[in-house]
Amino acid sequence: MNEKDFQKKQAALAALNYIQTDMIVGLGTGSTVSYFLDALAASQYNIIGVTTSTITSQRCAELNIPIVDIDAIDHIDITVDGADEVDSYLNGIKGGGAALLMEKIVAKNSKENIWIVDRSKVHNTLGAFPLPVEVIPYGSGQLLRQFANKGLFPKLRRHPGNNQPIITDAGHYIIDCHMTTISNPYALAEYLESQVGVVEHGLFLNVCDRIIIGDNTVEIKERQ
Ligand code: 5RP
Repeated sequence: MNEKDFQKKQAALAALNYIQTDMIVGLGTGSTVSYFLDALAASQYNIIGVTTSTITSQRCAELNIPIVDIDAIDHIDITVDGADEVDSYLNGIKGGGAALLMEKIVAKNSKENIWIVDRSKVHNTLGAFPLPVEVIPYGSGQLLRQFANKGLFPKLRRHPGNNQPIITDAGHYIIDCHMTTISNPYALAEYLESQVGVVEHGLFLNVCDRIIIGDNTVEIKERQ
């Protein structure tokens, strides 16, 4: 296991400390969450999961973790998810795995949100990771032009194999915005939310309550 995977696993194991039996637990998407699912399945906790992607639902089925539809429950106690980039305000960019829409819906309906990350994800300012924006396919070419004019350096996400646009679980495209640095994430979020055809963006602002950073010793940062 390389250093990054070791750190992901450390963060995932530490997140188990916040789980209790009978909780309804939002389950994120990605390789770090995958370590968390392994740990959860091996633990003594009986929980019910609410998943954020087809791939996480499949992993839960393989690991015998029971899941429930988000609309069949009246609350989610806690959500454990990964992130592509986090800053010192506990804001972040998500959607590298194209699951940002359901991840944000689950996060917004959770009483508490924990992100588990390796050290490389932690930056002073967001933007090093291209910002994913989930859009309706119809008119997405127009959005690409508008984003380019706005200086967002947009690129439609495509499958490396066949070069076809990737389709999200909800049937949308992803436009990745390669800005390098995002000086005002709140203004950018407001701009994106006002564009017709944008379904959701990967800026998760004031969502995360606690970040667990895996390293040789685990570091935990909490929202003040
Ligand atoms: C998926 C996400 C993931 O949480 C994010 O991409 C981190 O993934 P990984 O743990 O594999 O680095 O937002 O949409």
